Amino acid sequence: MKRATKQSASESEDLSRGAEKAQRPPAEDADVKDVPQGTGATLGLRVSDILEAFPFYVMLVDDRHRIVQANGAVHEQLGLAPEDVVGKYCPRVIHGIDEPWYACPLEEAAETGEAVEREVLDRATGRWVRSAIYPTAGFTADGSRIYFHTVADITDAKQVEDQLRASREQLRELSRFLESVREDERTRLAREMHDELGQTLTALKIDLSWLARRLQERQSLLEKTASMGELIDEAIQTVKRIATELRPGVLDDLGLADAIEWQTQELGRRTDITFRFNAYPEQVIVDRDRSTAIFRICQEALTNVVRHADATRVSVSLKKGSSRISLRIRDNGKGVEESQTLDPGALGLLGMRERARDWGGEMAITGAPGKGTLVVVSIPLAKKGDSEC
Ligand SMILES: Nc1ncnc2c1ncn2[C@@H]1O[C@H](COP(=O)(O)OP(=O)(O)OP(=O)(O)O)[C@@H](O)[C@H]1O
Ligand SMILES: [Mg+2]
Repeated sequence: MKRATKQSASESEDLSRGAEKAQRPPAEDADVKDVPQGTGATLGLRVSDILEAFPFYVMLVDDRHRIVQANGAVHEQLGLAPEDVVGKYCPRVIHGIDEPWYACPLEEAAETGEAVEREVLDRATGRWVRSAIYPTAGFTADGSRIYFHTVADITDAKQVEDQLRASREQLRELSRFLESVREDERTRLAREMHDELGQTLTALKIDLSWLARRLQERQSLLEKTASMGELIDEAIQTVKRIATELRPGVLDDLGLADAIEWQTQELGRRTDITFRFNAYPEQVIVDRDRSTAIFRICQEALTNVVRHADATRVSVSLKKGSSRISLRIRDNGKGVEESQTLDPGALGLLGMRERARDWGGEMAITGAPGKGTLVVVSIPLAKKGDSEC
């Protein structure tokens, strides 16, 4: 639909005269006169002036689909003279058909007395159309209600919307892919560190003990081997810690509930916060990818508690129902504020939400000042196109 140019006032007046000329024009008996209206009177505005301001089809129609008045966009874009429009059957003028258009909102608006707006694909033209009907307070002289009717081509906007939706979905796909690559990489690194580096250091420790036994009389060398031994012990602990932080083996070996419990114990040991954990049923069995997603969400939520909440108590509960698995983390800290949770820069929270969404689930975080924060995550156990787990 082309953008119509604005018509001059005299053309607008022609339009209303067109109404009078048309064959049994509803405008003739209508109460709609092209005279200054309401406060518009002080501005010298006519109904036609208002209709002409719109670059898309704007009409007044009655409840029998008769066009009472139409703006220049209708004439110009359809190449019709005003007398071919006013008083005519709207579906014929706009769609070239002799029955109501299949998506016409008029019937519903007439029935409910409410405005009806529809965005529909016009099957005949392949274009997207926004067709809207707004009941007015006016009636034609024969008692038909008058409706304000707009028809706009929104194909371009729809295309932009579709492209935006597609690129958002692509971004989500990319982030899902990067996450899984990152998780695989972490698992591989953790294993290699634990198996390779850990074993090498242990072997080094054994060799060092062997050396120490043969250096009984050389006190200074003996002291050196003792301090080397301490360094190797430290290195072994560091390797274990890094490997566990990269991907806790307990997640793969014992499952989600044990991994979360282990994480709460770890944090309990390192902070002054008391953590309580419960799982229902005790053995929550979920597939590896969902376990990873929930575990990472839980880690981020717990890290947030430690970093931001000033809490003394945290309770974590994991529950598997027949169709969903849910995780609740409640702390008694200062309470997150809505502005913080909605902040586009809150990437940790965004990551939690996205991970939950990846699995068709959701994450909600709420807080009350001084009363703590509650994080609730819920993920369905089966996703469309997914095998039941
Ligand atoms: N349990 C909580 N108690 C109080 N405030 C919280 C809590 N969790 C989150 N917040 C607030 O919400 C903000 C956003 O959290 P988010 O995890 O997105 O970012 P962050 O932790 O500051 O940084 P990072 O990107 O490293 O995670 C935090 O900066 C903090 O102010
Ligand atoms: Mg964070």
